[in-house]
Amino acid sequence: MTPITTGFTADDLGRAVVAAVHAPSQHNSQPWRFRLRDGGIEVYADRARRLSDWAAYLACGAATFNIRLALAAAGIVPRVWLLPYPDEPDVVARLEPDRHRAAAPHEHALFAAVPLRHSNRAPFWPDPVPLDARWRLVEAARAEGAWVELVIGASAVSTLGELAHGAHRVLQRDPEQRAEVSRWTRHGPARDGVPAALGGPVVAPDDLLPTRHRAAGVVPLQTRPVDSPASDVAAATGPPAPGPRGGNSGPGWNPAPDRNDPHGGRGRRGGGGNGGPSWDAGRAGHSGLVEAEPLVAVIGTAGDRAADQITAGQALQRMLLTATDAQLTASMISQPIEVSGAREQLRRALGRFGVPQMVLRIGYGQPGHPTPRRSPTEVTDPAP
Ligand SMILES: Cc1cc2nc3c(=O)[nH]c(=O)nc-3n(C[C@H](O)[C@H](O)[C@H](O)COP(=O)(O)O)c2cc1C
Repeated sequence: MTPITTGFTADDLGRAVVAAVHAPSQHNSQPWRFRLRDGGIEVYADRARRLSDWAAYLACGAATFNIRLALAAAGIVPRVWLLPYPDEPDVVARLEPDRHRAAAPHEHALFAAVPLRHSNRAPFWPDPVPLDARWRLVEAARAEGAWVELVIGASAVSTLGELAHGAHRVLQRDPEQRAEVSRWTRHGPARDGVPAALGGPVVAPDDLLPTRHRAAGVVPLQTRPVDSPASDVAAATGPPAPGPRGGNSGPGWNPAPDRNDPHGGRGRRGGGGNGGPSWDAGRAGHSGLVEAEPLVAVIGTAGDRAADQITAGQALQRMLLTATDAQLTASMISQPIEVSGAREQLRRALGRFGVPQMVLRIGYGQPGHPTPRRSPTEVTDPAP
């Protein structure tokens, strides 16, 4: 490993930002900017696009993780400071070159997944996520300093669905929230926001978590650490993305595990014979196809300071990219995090200390649709 004595160049920054802008952000608000300052790459929150501190820090944390991967793929290990300037809380991270080292295979794999990851709000296929993939997902978030709980069992999942749905109703009653949603809903071409055809920025949790098994009353969540669209959508957003390995778009790219395979069969099946619902089934008509029991994960951190939220963003992105690499697809459910009462209920139901930061739904399904992004140049400060 060779120590690096010079700072980052404009080319390094350019490559990093190409990866960074693929990060997820609430309502696709893309609340980030990037710059080179004194040889370091800095990620800072764009105040004009900030929905809340939590949302900005999670998104910027995810973008920071993508930058780390882009640098790793170029053989550079950076030193990373979160919130490097106490009097500039908008500067989320600063990365300086530290040493040269060939990227590890898992870094190459995650980097390759960056442009292939898309939120997928459509129902997943009923095939369960195999144990080894669950293990990888949990380890991914842990490696970034977050904790993860997997919500196991139909009644636990429906209890979480109940919580999410209640939080959604609270948010819907808030006029500011409604204005925010309409501000980020897009009815035509745009480089940010969420196309109305994808359900707009806020999808009711009922569409994402099954409620047909909803238990009467609230039962404690059982969690287990892993140790033990429709044509209108296609028209609005373009065709489904190619599969994680590239070049294999359309039905069959993201195989459900073979039910006859005791190991969960992660190998790809041949063209289209996957038994999953076809994309043309359409989102609205999907309710009967919702998987009986999706894999639901809650990411959390020890505290809820800005640094914890940035950590959660990095962990979220590492987990999402790990899912993409494992040919899984995912969507985020933030209502139970945004409503403080629901968040506390969630924490108690999980029976753990610390703070839930994001709920994820993970499974096998059609690839998600890419949402647009602003260009790297638009979000990069000119060289000083
Ligand atoms: C902090 C945060 C909160 C989010 N909340 C939700 C949510 O409640 N429901 C949802 O469907 N997607 C949610 N998302 C996903 C964004 O809508 C999505 O990342 C964005 O539209 C860009 O699309 P992409 O993930 O396909 O790149 C959230 C993302 C972040 C980072």
